[in-house]
Amino acid sequence: MAEQQSDALVFFGASGDLAKKKIFPALYEMSRKGLLDVPVVGVALDDWTDDQLVGRARDSITSHLGDEFDEKVFTAFAGRLRYVSGDYRKPETFASIKSCVGGATHVTSYLAIPPSLFGTVAEGLAGAGLAEGCRIVVEKPFGRDAASAQQLNDVLHRFFSEDVIYRIDHYLGKESVQNLMFFRFANAFLEPIWNRNFVESVQITMAESFGVEDRGKFYDEAGTIRDVVQNHLLQVVAMLGMEPPADPSAKALRDQKVALFSSIRTIAPEDMIRGQYDGYRSIDGVAPDSNVETFVALRVMIDSWRWSGVPFLIRAGKRMPVTATEVVAVLRRPPADVFGTGVAQGPANYVRFRLGPDEIAIALGTQAKHPGEAMTGDMVELEAVRCKHDGEEADAYERLLTDAMLGDATLFGREDGIAEQWRIVSRILDDTRPVLPYTPGGWGAPQATSLLPAGDRWMNPSEKSGDPPTMDAPSS
Ligand code: BG6
Repeated sequence: MAEQQSDALVFFGASGDLAKKKIFPALYEMSRKGLLDVPVVGVALDDWTDDQLVGRARDSITSHLGDEFDEKVFTAFAGRLRYVSGDYRKPETFASIKSCVGGATHVTSYLAIPPSLFGTVAEGLAGAGLAEGCRIVVEKPFGRDAASAQQLNDVLHRFFSEDVIYRIDHYLGKESVQNLMFFRFANAFLEPIWNRNFVESVQITMAESFGVEDRGKFYDEAGTIRDVVQNHLLQVVAMLGMEPPADPSAKALRDQKVALFSSIRTIAPEDMIRGQYDGYRSIDGVAPDSNVETFVALRVMIDSWRWSGVPFLIRAGKRMPVTATEVVAVLRRPPADVFGTGVAQGPANYVRFRLGPDEIAIALGTQAKHPGEAMTGDMVELEAVRCKHDGEEADAYERLLTDAMLGDATLFGREDGIAEQWRIVSRILDDTRPVLPYTPGGWGAPQATSLLPAGDRWMNPSEKSGDPPTMDAPSS
């Protein structure tokens, strides 16, 4: 069953924002590449016709692609698209879906809807015979904490077995995140230094220059830890920290990730600084006295042979100076100052991975001698990789939906991994200490410096992926 190609795709939440921004462009691309020649059924409550859904798909894809929109590809895709309007609580809705997918027996159902509806939809699918032999893909957030994630699992497991549940974390579908793992395990040179003996600390920064203006209500119920740390950034930690999988199977990779998650210490409140940008509380949908964070800095420790004592320092925030996600592994300094010029105490070497938004880069920060008499140097980067996402490259959603249709669960969350991810953040969710204010356009709450090892600096991603990070003032 696991490798059986799906013979229909049903997506719930067809009139929603995610469908408009991500799902239609992904389905169009899959269609263009010949990866989607099965019935596609959009489902939502709105009283739309097939034509209205096609119109919505056209708007979404043209605004995504601009001049590259291809009418022929769209016509072929639109020809497979059907719309079912209905209440998820009514069996009639699922009977209509069943008739739209014809005789399909390996349907993939994608739930791009709030988690509170997962149980209702799963039950409806099962009632219409759309669970047996089928797969179910669910959007994030997968719960609000360990207990609610467990409840969602229980609800889904009533109708679907674990091996056909695909939990989305779109970071796993990103080319840059794949590249992180590839760079580590397709090369041998990194391995000898990729451990506590050579790496002093690892910084992970996810900076976004925009705020949450258009999604105040959602964000005020989530906050940065639930929105991007528990999922996306812990996945990045796993890619950086895990041991190599024994074979290419989904199981081997997911086992290694879960092993890594299990060795991450539950984050203590003292290892966290939470901030909120000035002006956040006046956004529509945000409580006027909200204590929800829009910025967080964390010190994460991994109790493993490889990483013992090496802090993984995470920062994520809205209204930062740039939009960029970057990892910087700071290496230990030379043991002696051979030149007597303080070079050994200067900026440390580092390995930098730029994960987005548009370009991927891998660079090594090294000291190079200044021309002239003095044995002093400057920090220069040796760039190993830099590439732009181009039209041929799969967007995260395209990759994930294609994989789910093929029955490849490698890039999806597994029950035990998600439980560990919630355990790691369990002590820092819903902190009642007041958030620290920060100025929009800055690097978050200045108190974040206190999490760094003495004398270290935050390495702030530059606007351009090819430029080295800028450094904050050192911590005391
Ligand atoms: C989403 C979060 O999951 O990821 C957003 O809800 C965040 O707040 C987004 O902006 C970042 O994803 P990407 O792919 O734009 O880096």
